[in-house]
Amino acid sequence: METNASPQPSENRIAIVGVGHVGVMSAYALMFGGLAREIVLVDLDRARAEGEAMDLSHAAALARPVTVRAGDYRDAASASVVVITAGVAGRAGESRLDLLGRNAVVARAVVAELMENGFDGIILMATNPVDVLAHVAFERSGLPSDRVLSSGTVLDSARLRALLAEELAVDARSVHAYVVGEHGDSEIAAWSCARVAGVPLFDYPGAERLPSRAEMLDRVRRAAPDIIERKGYTSFAIATCVGRICEAILRDTHTVLPVSSLMRGEYGVEGIYLSTPCIVGRRGVERRVELPLDAEELEGLHASADVLGETLRSLARDAGR
Ligand SMILES: NC(=O)c1ccc[n+]([C@@H]2O[C@H](COP(=O)([O-])OP(=O)(O)OC[C@H]3O[C@@H](n4cnc5c(N)ncnc54)[C@H](O)[C@@H]3O)[C@@H](O)[C@H]2O)c1
Repeated sequence: METNASPQPSENRIAIVGVGHVGVMSAYALMFGGLAREIVLVDLDRARAEGEAMDLSHAAALARPVTVRAGDYRDAASASVVVITAGVAGRAGESRLDLLGRNAVVARAVVAELMENGFDGIILMATNPVDVLAHVAFERSGLPSDRVLSSGTVLDSARLRALLAEELAVDARSVHAYVVGEHGDSEIAAWSCARVAGVPLFDYPGAERLPSRAEMLDRVRRAAPDIIERKGYTSFAIATCVGRICEAILRDTHTVLPVSSLMRGEYGVEGIYLSTPCIVGRRGVERRVELPLDAEELEGLHASADVLGETLRSLARDAGR
């Protein structure tokens, strides 16, 4: 029987708050990853959470031994990881930063509920704009910054790797390339650090036929609006990112993932959530890896940090602080 007093984080429980397209697909990815014994779904719309939990638990009978159920914040507070996917999705033509005002209210409310119920685990923010909302969650929760992260540019980096893999006719898993900075319009690609089979990207056979760097980055940045224009939302790739990040945390794999975390002077950036490759494990973000960026990339990263800093300040002004 659970009590209200200080729930102990359960290694076996993941909670997902916001059971829309992204949340439910994340639950599906987590279920097939065999990562948790219990997945708790929380949504403003309780009936929706119950319906999705019922549907998923029927699939579980054929997949992995996992209990999927609808729950409340008391249940979520004892999870080792809470994935936040609650909010409103981007509309065609709307930037991620436009979503900020609407989703900041949701993020604050969700984090307040978790903390009131004694949450002491890891928060993984997937609601956009992820960088600024991770910052909001960090401030509202009072948790150590390493235990509040967002999916950052894990998705954008996967999109870049998929694009390069297709152009070069090689398995995307053999392409190592990172998109860093904001998960959004100011993000940059760390071209100078990109490798295929250990070979610098632009020395790899066939690289001379690649589209321009600007075009490739533009395709990565446009991926979400392009998909939303066609099917109305995105879900499979982001849910796979959520699964991968949760796997790194729950299995303590120390995987390098470009999640968004609070910068502490790396690249000369302080006090801003943005993405750089990080070592992710049981304690959350265990270390940020500093890529040896060239001068132009570093300038782009600083510009991205400036965009995020200005957004944070405008959010604070709006909140009247
Ligand atoms: N990080 C990424 O790369 C990435 C990719 C895709 C989508 N997203 C973001 O994920 C978020 C969700 O997208 P979606 O397509 O699943 O949206 P959706 O509208 O399908 O689902 C959102 C869910 O959140 C719930 N919700 C809203 N406010 C809530 C609250 N206060 N408490 C609990 N639940 C609440 C709604 O009832 C709904 O079920 C959006 O912000 C979207 O931009 C992020």
